[in-house]
Amino acid sequence: MPHKVSLTRLKLTDFRNYAALALDLDQRHVVLTGENGAGKTNLMEAISFLSPGRGLRRAAYADVARVGAADGFSVFAAVEGMEGPVEIGTGTAGTEEGQSRRLRLNGTPARTVDELTDHLRVLWLTPAMDGLFTGPSSDRRRFLDRLVLSLDPEHGRRASEFDRAMRSRNRLLSEFRPDPAWLTAIEREMAGLGVSMALARLEMLGLLTALVERSQSGGTL
Ligand SMILES: Nc1ncnc2c1ncn2[C@@H]1O[C@H](COP(=O)(O)OP(=O)(O)OP(=O)(O)O)[C@@H](O)[C@H]1O
Ligand SMILES: [Mg+2]
Repeated sequence: MPHKVSLTRLKLTDFRNYAALALDLDQRHVVLTGENGAGKTNLMEAISFLSPGRGLRRAAYADVARVGAADGFSVFAAVEGMEGPVEIGTGTAGTEEGQSRRLRLNGTPARTVDELTDHLRVLWLTPAMDGLFTGPSSDRRRFLDRLVLSLDPEHGRRASEFDRAMRSRNRLLSEFRPDPAWLTAIEREMAGLGVSMALARLEMLGLLTALVERSQSGGTL
């Protein structure tokens, strides 16, 4: 069982409205309060950069750097990660458009930001994502799949191979007299991938259910 992942220190430089910020944290939950525009969501966005991708707002990096900053933004975090303590530094140098985000792990440049997922997985649910509750079940399934990915990194590959196979199958079925051998091969592949994916989702649901039951019986999440 991997130990509990937590953020112990967060330092921001030229990030949105923060010229410089240092926060010490522990394993307890955090509630942020403050006036509109105080910078609460900006903090969440900074934390979202501890996962690959463009973060909570999917903003252009030039907009993330503080207005008037001379040289991009940086986020530094000390994390009790899945492989033990790790220091993460990420940000951009300069403010020109289209540049990618750099990453350092324990001071050493990482090859890609994907290496973050060896240490922690960050998940968010924001009001902007309310479509998750009202929209199609496929969106909810995709959200569940992001959770599953934190248990099983192979899950993403299986999900995209399954989608690809399903598209081939639909294409084939729209043909006049589809080749039965080809159809069988595709369906066999889909069945194999589908069973693995269903099992991984069930395992995740089991963990979530146990978590909810534990919190209802007075334990902590
Ligand atoms: N690149 C930037 N440089 C400087 N300030 C910025 C930058 N981007 C956003 N801001 C400022 O950040 C503030 C918004 O911060 P944020 O969205 O975190 O507020 P909030 O506390 O979440 O507010 P609310 O309660 O309305 O959700 C605004 O005042 C905005 O001017
Ligand atoms: Mg906000």
